[in-house]
Amino acid sequence: MTPPLRIAILGSTGSIGRQALDVAARFPERVEVVALAAGTNVLSLAEQATAFGVRHVAIAEPALLEKLSSHLPGSTVSGGDAAVVELATLPEVDLVLNALVGAAGLRASVATLTAGKRLALANKESLVVGGELVTSLATYPNALIPVDSEHSAIFQCLLGEPATDVSRIWLTASGGPFRGRDRASLSRVTVAEALAHPRWTMGPKITIDSSTLMNKGLEAIEAHHLFAVGYDIIRIVVHPQSCVHSMVEFADGSVKAHLGATDMRIPIQYALSHPERWDSPVPPVDFAALGQLDFEEPDRDAFPALSLALEAGRLGGTMPAAMNAANEIAVAAFLRGDTGFMDIPRVVETVMAAHTRQPLESIEAVESVDAWARAVATEAL
Ligand SMILES: NC(=O)c1ccc[n+]([C@@H]2O[C@H](COP(=O)([O-])OP(=O)(O)OC[C@H]3O[C@@H](n4cnc5c(N)ncnc54)[C@H](OP(=O)(O)O)[C@@H]3O)[C@@H](O)[C@H]2O)c1
Repeated sequence: MTPPLRIAILGSTGSIGRQALDVAARFPERVEVVALAAGTNVLSLAEQATAFGVRHVAIAEPALLEKLSSHLPGSTVSGGDAAVVELATLPEVDLVLNALVGAAGLRASVATLTAGKRLALANKESLVVGGELVTSLATYPNALIPVDSEHSAIFQCLLGEPATDVSRIWLTASGGPFRGRDRASLSRVTVAEALAHPRWTMGPKITIDSSTLMNKGLEAIEAHHLFAVGYDIIRIVVHPQSCVHSMVEFADGSVKAHLGATDMRIPIQYALSHPERWDSPVPPVDFAALGQLDFEEPDRDAFPALSLALEAGRLGGTMPAAMNAANEIAVAAFLRGDTGFMDIPRVVETVMAAHTRQPLESIEAVESVDAWARAVATEAL
């Protein structure tokens, strides 16, 4: 019998992390959770570690280490950002699910690949800010498997297809809660309205990114790096039913689409099971009940964050890191109720205009641009 896949989940208390544990719980003979990490949510982290008998547990906030230790006397516990990254390199880890949120996930992605482990990547910001720094390390088979539903879909459509035959990538977008709204009405939306995503239940940052369409811009950059394709062949289309997770068009005009239920446990599970497929508890799509699939152009005037992200991606170098940091600051301010919805693209635009793009040379260079951009964004708010 094949030994179980030994996994570390970074960001286990979040939306992706909790769903990953749900997958692991259904396949105890195939998946063993050996390490868990979170930011500040000690009680939930300790509960997860106890339930799954996890030996290595880290918390990013060092002040919470003592509390974590008191709940987990039998585990090896550690605290601080470096301790979270360290879990990715443990000898007993085969695969790291990076489900951290934001640019804070970059070091974990780099450490995972440097250690020769398989990286199941939900943390799209790693690729947005670190691009080639991350992909240049993914040199061995199955080093990097996407978890984002669109990229998992594209990854699966590309299986068995020569990269040279790809003529277009169709990245689908639900359109978020404000599809059809104009720019003027968007300036008045509330945090609660922006968090009410019509199709997916996700963490707060990605939910706001989906409502501004920034998420689709981040995903275009992610696709550019994951599949080594130019921005000119990535086409974004709004598909409100979110049933087609993305599509790949080939030289002969054939289009392969990946369809399925809107449940992140499917792409999370596939990142663990690839190249196998395991059973899933998700009810299949009933196409007769679904009735129709709609597609439309995104409204770039009402949702300027999309064009800003694409422009940052095209400019490359350190521009995506500056754009991403500005977005993280503006989204956090919006979630706190400190700024308006349309201030998010305004702040991103301000920071991008102030940034002089440099080549992407090292993690340290990315982090320095990230810190600079956060300061400028805070000022712009
Ligand atoms: N949710 C989805 O359906 C979905 C779909 C596609 C892609 N993604 C991507 O997956 C990533 C995670 O999204 P999410 O929705 O799961 O986010 P989330 O619900 O906010 O969870 C984030 C997780 O990361 C932890 N964390 C945050 N900052 C940290 C730090 N500095 N060090 C260590 N741990 C930290 C949090 O811990 P605490 O709980 O302790 O704060 C939590 O466990 C994002 O990049 C997102 O874009 C998510």
